[in-house]
This record gives sequence, C-alpha cells and structure tokens, in this order.
Amino acid sequence: MSDSQSLWWRNAAIYQVYPRSFQDSNGDGEGDLQGVISRLDYLKELGIDAIWLSPFYTSPNRDGGYDVANPRDVDPRFGAMQDAEELILAAHNHGLKIIVDIVPNHFSTDHPWFKVALSTPPGSRERARFHFYDGRGVNGEIPPNNWCSIFGGPAWSRIPESDGIKGQWYLHLFDSTQADLNWENPEVHQDFEKTLRFWLDKGVDGFRIDVAHGLAKEEILKDHRDPEGLTRALRLDVGDMTRAERESLLADVPFFDREGVHDIYRTWRRIFDSYPGTRMSVAEAWVHPSSRATRYVRSDELHQIFNFDFLLAEWSVDFLKQAIDKTIQEVSQVSAPPTWVLCNHDSPRLVSRLGGGKMGETKARAMALITHALPGSVYVFQGEELGLEDVNLPDEVRQDPVFFRTQGADKGRDGARVPIPWHATDINFGFSSGNPWLPMPKNWSEKSVAVQQLHSDSFLNLYKKSLSIRRSHPALQPNQADNVSQSLEWKIFGDEILAFSRNPGFLLLANFSDTLQELTVDGEILLASQPGVTHKDGSITLPAHTTCWINTSR
Ligand code: NOJ
Repeated sequence: MSDSQSLWWRNAAIYQVYPRSFQDSNGDGEGDLQGVISRLDYLKELGIDAIWLSPFYTSPNRDGGYDVANPRDVDPRFGAMQDAEELILAAHNHGLKIIVDIVPNHFSTDHPWFKVALSTPPGSRERARFHFYDGRGVNGEIPPNNWCSIFGGPAWSRIPESDGIKGQWYLHLFDSTQADLNWENPEVHQDFEKTLRFWLDKGVDGFRIDVAHGLAKEEILKDHRDPEGLTRALRLDVGDMTRAERESLLADVPFFDREGVHDIYRTWRRIFDSYPGTRMSVAEAWVHPSSRATRYVRSDELHQIFNFDFLLAEWSVDFLKQAIDKTIQEVSQVSAPPTWVLCNHDSPRLVSRLGGGKMGETKARAMALITHALPGSVYVFQGEELGLEDVNLPDEVRQDPVFFRTQGADKGRDGARVPIPWHATDINFGFSSGNPWLPMPKNWSEKSVAVQQLHSDSFLNLYKKSLSIRRSHPALQPNQADNVSQSLEWKIFGDEILAFSRNPGFLLLANFSDTLQELTVDGEILLASQPGVTHKDGSITLPAHTTCWINTSR
C-alpha cells in the first residue's frame, strides 16, 4: 500500500448518505441500499473519497435508525445483507471507501437483550446490560435521578414487572425506545467488538461512532443541580443562556466525556489496526471545552473527531479564523487531522442557517470554498452539494422524536432530511415512484441533480470543481502527521477579507463584506464561488460574499 493510500482518511472528502432519503429503488417511498448502489457513478463523479452511511440496521426506526435492534443485520426497509455486501464491493470497484455507523451508547428497546431484560427479575444478568434501577419514593414512583433526556422529557422510563406492577426504571439519554447500555459490563464490550469485526470482515473501511462521548456514566444515582439547564446547554440553539452559564454547566456532565470512554477506544483501535488496509474511525463527540477533543484522537485511540464549530459558524472573518486556528492547533498536538462539517442530518442545512434564499446560497457557496481548501477531512451531507434548504414541513408529517418529546416546541430535524431531487420532471423528482416518507417541495426542479448538471455555475458544479482541485492541486494534498499546524498561513487584506495561503502556490480570498472589493494579487483564478470575479493587471475584483481560489505559482 502506498503512503497516500494508507493516509487516505487524513485528507478525505467524505459524503454522508442518509439512506432513507437518498434513492428509493423499490417504490416504497424510502431510500434503500440498492438505491445507493444505483447512484455510485454520481458520487464518483462528484469527486469524493468515501461514503459514510447512516444506520441501515434492523430497527423500529423511532430515531431514524439510531435505535438499533440488531447491529449485525440489515433492516428490510433498506434491503438485505446481500445488498450491503454488494454495496461495499461496488463502492470499492468505484474507488470509494465505505464508512458505517456504530451506535454504542444505546440499543433499541426492540433489541432481544432489552426484551429479555423485561422478562427477567431485577438484579438479573440480563438487566445488568442496561441501567435498570429501583425508583425512589414510597412506591418507587420517583426516577432514580433527575436527569433529562436530550430529546426532551425525563431520561428514565418505568417498566411493568411480570406481575403487572410498575417496577424498575431504565435510563435513556435519548428517546425512551433507546435504552442506554451499561459499559461497566464486559458483555457489552464483547458484543460491540463482535459487531466491529462483523463489518470489518465484510470489508468496511471505517466507523462513525455515534455519541462517542457518552458510553461511560458517573454518579448515576445522584441528582444533577440543574438538569433542565444542562439539557438546554447541550443543545445547539440555546438563545436564552449566557455563555458563562452554559460553560459552567458543560464543564462537568456526569454522562458525557468521562475518563472511562478512552479505554474502550484503545481496544477498538487495536481491532482496527489488526485488519489489512487502513480502517478508520471518527468520533461524534461533543466535548467542552473543545480542547478535550484531542483526547479522543491520541495515536492509540480514534483517527478523527468531528469538529462541529462550522455547524454554528457565524458569517464573520474573526469567528472563522479563530475556529480554524483553534481546530488545527488542537488536533495537531496529537498529530490527528482536522475535520470540517458544514451540516449533517442533525443540524439545519447550510443555506438555511446562513439566511436562506439567494443570500443564504451565496454565503453557503463561499463557505464551501473556504472549507474545501482547509487541511484535513471534509464531510459533505447529501444534498449540501445541491444547495438544498431545510423544508418547512407540516407538523402532521414530522417523525423526529425530538418533535414529540418536546410537544412540538422543538420542530426537530426532519426539515434537513427530506429526500434528494434527482430529476426535474419525474414523479417525486426521481427519488421514488411511491409516496416519499417526507413530502418534497413542489418547486425543487431547479435544485435537481439533472438541472444542476446542465448549468456550469450550479451549486453541484461548484462542488465538483472544488473537490477536483482539492485532489489535484499540490498545496491541498494530505499533510504528513507532523506538519498540519504549519499547513496554512493567514494573509492580511483588511478586516472583512479572510485570506490564507497554502504552499506551494495557493491563495484563498473570501470577501465577507457587503460590497465589491478590489485587491492587489498576482496569480491566476482557479475557482470562484460566484461569477463576476475578475483579474486584471495584478488586481482582483471580488464581489460581496464571494470566495476565490488563486494559483500563485508561476
Ligand atoms: C447522534 C445522531 O447523529 C442522531 O441522529 C441521533 O438521534 C443521536 N445520536 C442518538 O443516537
């Protein structure tokens, strides 16, 4: 294996497929694995290196498949095991890697382990795989502690015992159908190691680890001083809390980022490394302060950790410069590559977050070019490359448990999960011949892949061009472990211009102001996020909210 092969994950473009919304092949209104196979040519042409598949495992689908009832089988809504095997092979034949999700914090209450736990008595070996406890109060009617679910409501549910009397409580940090696993129990470790090997044996190239910071819990029988405040602080969109309040609550969360998680990842790393080729892992871990992220990517732990700063990025030169510097500086202490995420299935779509409409699109295009020029790995959420916006869905069609558990106060994440428009005029834009599980806006023709392929200035073509230059320009190649921190140099062009160079011969200029700017620069324009960028006599004209890539080598 050549060096660039073995380091593929350090500088990859990784595309997130949310299978339920990607491509339906059998007309049931939900995407499936055969649908993904049918779109591999599209993904190859887009210029990505790897596909991350959100869960397709057996699941009652109460939380979009993140409620796993059998992690070593395929849910019939997505196909069969044979389809998964075919997809892995076909992706590899296209030169694309496959990363799958692993969900170790919880099992669905439909998992056989949970079902058998319900029919065995308190204190049994079967219950010890989860967090079952007696309640407090005279009749055990008060939950074991006062923690709140991240999805809203209490973090505990009470079960009826075999005699029909209400009995013990079990912990669920998310939906009540997602029972938290007890990672103090060696059986849980063994089962997940079996799942890792199962998919590694099938040839997957890596894992995205769901709630990677959550497995170890501490002080489980102790009340938290402000459980509701803590849940609000853990959300992305807290508007009603001061920064100091938020930071103080997040400084010590008894169920997140405990020391115990790291031994688990050391064991997992040994498993990944025991397989041929390079198998990688990326942690979904929200940690505070962010400097603690480095602990997950020490050389004997995981390969990457998502950096979510850009999910919240303000349209501001200072914000971005700080976020970029901090991220690069933190991960390079442990020689891990930075990662960049503009949106995903849990967050608002990029165009919507940046204001929506024409302005949102313009800024999103500029943000994409900034992101694609950074060192490290970039994650693209399906439909991001089409500039899709969140869909304002009627409440009757919503499916996210967040919507239900907050009694509609939080609309949830369905708006970003609406299926992909492939064709301009076909029924349901070619996503499905059946009724899509979430309705697709009538006016999405212009956003469809087919229409965007025809217009050289489309969002899709911008992504194709930037991902292609990212692969070929000598300055944007993988960084060896020891020099990520020196891979980018800030340039000064005024307060509202974000500018950096990368060697050899690459300069990025992004105009954050509302007006056109003239800048003195030598070089040749490689790519611009908007039309109208011109270069004449050593001077670049950069319209408002526009990013431009310049080749400065002669
Ligand atoms: C993070 C996943 O991305 C999200 O979709 C899910 O709801 C939670 N983890 C719980 O598994």
